[in-house]
Amino acid sequence: MEVKIVENRKLAGKDFLLTVEVPDIIANKIKPGQFAMVDVRHFSQTDPLLKRPLGIFNIEGKNVSFIYRVVGRGTKLLTEMEDKVDLILPLGNYFIDDVGRYLFIAGGIGIGGVFLAAKKFLQNGKKVKVVYGGREEKDLSAFPFLKKYDIPFLSVTEDGSCGKKGLVTDFISEFKDYRWVACGSSGMLRAVKNLAKKIGVECYVSIDERMACGVGGCLGCVVKTKSGYKRTCVEGPIFKADEVEI
Ligand SMILES: Cc1cc2nc3c(=O)[nH]c(=O)nc-3n(C[C@H](O)[C@H](O)[C@H](O)COP(=O)(O)OP(=O)(O)OC[C@H]3O[C@@H](n4cnc5c(N)ncnc54)[C@H](O)[C@@H]3O)c2cc1C
Ligand code: FES
Repeated sequence: MEVKIVENRKLAGKDFLLTVEVPDIIANKIKPGQFAMVDVRHFSQTDPLLKRPLGIFNIEGKNVSFIYRVVGRGTKLLTEMEDKVDLILPLGNYFIDDVGRYLFIAGGIGIGGVFLAAKKFLQNGKKVKVVYGGREEKDLSAFPFLKKYDIPFLSVTEDGSCGKKGLVTDFISEFKDYRWVACGSSGMLRAVKNLAKKIGVECYVSIDERMACGVGGCLGCVVKTKSGYKRTCVEGPIFKADEVEI
């Protein structure tokens, strides 16, 4: 589906915000935790063929936003897109709001996978806290959005340049009566999963596995789970932490 780009601007460091306008029927379908496959080719190009997966960061009316970090060719090409972009959305499973307290743990650009759930669940009257970590201040580029929606958060940086100094796992043990929901690097997800297991907390993870088709056809994104191999793009990206191998 080709959609109009409303804005595509730099936030901080290597992070950008892309906002597109989608038809109402699509906007109304989107649930927190889902993602899109974004075509990063410019009009005259045939390469790169594969779309890139991005978590649906926010929705305001018809405007759907993505927060993305430039890590390679595809995301670099995306920064240059101005008028229109082709994408498929919404894809994947989603977070269900069925408990009273949520601790969202976001590692850097992993905020893209959990922000919308934090915003919506807070609006649903639930108790929400976001622990948002990165190496340094510029990794916490969604800071203004957490403030804008009054989402309670704690920032954590490894170098101490913003908020508490340390790793996110240094600051979450006290949230024992919350459901933990994490998105970030596999190292961070593993550490969160192990800590949740140790202290007996229910934990979900959103996995940013590499993807090719994004719609279940290529098996390029499978992860090992207790009930066999699962496709991150269809059965995921959200899994119960104790059921998936990270
Ligand atoms: C469900 C899902 C949601 C995602 N949400 C976001 C998001 O909201 N914001 C965002 O910035 N990124 C997100 N990602 C990751 C994003 O898709 C990749 O960073 C992007 O596809 C890289 O494309 P590229 O062409 O720039 O990099 P490439 O040239 O393809 O790769 C550059 C480098 O990044 C590494 N890399 C590429 N893809 C991944 C990946 N999925 N996980 C870890 N390392 C990778 C490569 O190994 C390589 O070292 C998500 C991924 C998934 C599967
Ligand atoms: S990316 Fe093709 S099956 Fe998931």
